[in-house]
Amino acid sequence: MSGNKRKVVLVGTGMVGMSFAYAALNQNVCDELIMIDLNEKRAEGEAMDLNHGLAFSHSSMKIRCGGYSECADADIVVICAGANQKPTESRLQLLQKNAVVFSSIVPKVVQSGFEGIFLVATNPVDIMTRVTYELSGFNASKIIGTGTTLDTARLRYLLGEYFEVDPRNIHAYVIGEHGDSEFVPWSQALLAAKPLKDVMRDNPKSYYMEELEQISDDVRCAAHKIIEAKGATYYGIGMSIVRIVRAILQDENSVLTVSVRLRGEYGGKKDVFIGNPCIVSANGAKRILELKLTEQELQKLDNSCTILNDNFKKLKL
Ligand code: 2OP
Repeated sequence: MSGNKRKVVLVGTGMVGMSFAYAALNQNVCDELIMIDLNEKRAEGEAMDLNHGLAFSHSSMKIRCGGYSECADADIVVICAGANQKPTESRLQLLQKNAVVFSSIVPKVVQSGFEGIFLVATNPVDIMTRVTYELSGFNASKIIGTGTTLDTARLRYLLGEYFEVDPRNIHAYVIGEHGDSEFVPWSQALLAAKPLKDVMRDNPKSYYMEELEQISDDVRCAAHKIIEAKGATYYGIGMSIVRIVRAILQDENSVLTVSVRLRGEYGGKKDVFIGNPCIVSANGAKRILELKLTEQELQKLDNSCTILNDNFKKLKL
């Protein structure tokens, strides 16, 4: 560990990685950010460009490029390296090529003597997080993926618009695969302390379940729509990574729907990494909050787990 300095290493300085770095700088989320990329020239340019903006920020973050030895005393290694989706491509189609990229990254991080937390953003993120777990040999609690953190933020934004309430008062989650099988367990959704289903019942002429389901679909398709429009998504995921990094570095014990390894929850599910509300602290995934799902919601979670397990088994590492 780097003493009291909050040190983060970023592997992959593409648009997602640099959106994270830019947001980290502006939110002053750590004291030191080291950037690693196969394209060293680009990484150098990115570090220079960010450093030139420091004077305009309230941050004193030290930003530079480096090698894997820099991971030795880092608190967190954020991995954004790999290919991203092209229009009409699913996240799962990225799996084999990104797993090969990870098999060259993760061992180098471990060999440095790194003892911190791995935070994975590369898609398909749930399986890439599991690949990191398998390659690192680390305790599962120290391996976290961004999971459905961004999807939950998208959901709360849209529900805030729909109910005309500050999204921070909407306690609803997207869980499951960060992908086409993700879903919202509406039975667990709250508007402040009031179950959403009671809000609907008390206002039958204002709110409709079909409209909520449409919101859930809009969240699930958000990335495809953004990629179609501008070629990729990066600001939202970049800021999601900052949110998770802050929860770890400040030992917040915040609940985030990160991708974590189930330990027997939901009827004995194990091994799979999947988006679920989890208490995130300095030690990583501190405690998984198992939700009381309806039969139908459990079936949706089963479906997500099956998709992730089947695709993980196809991998050739
Ligand atoms: C997103 O959901 C592409 O996974 C990325 O924005």
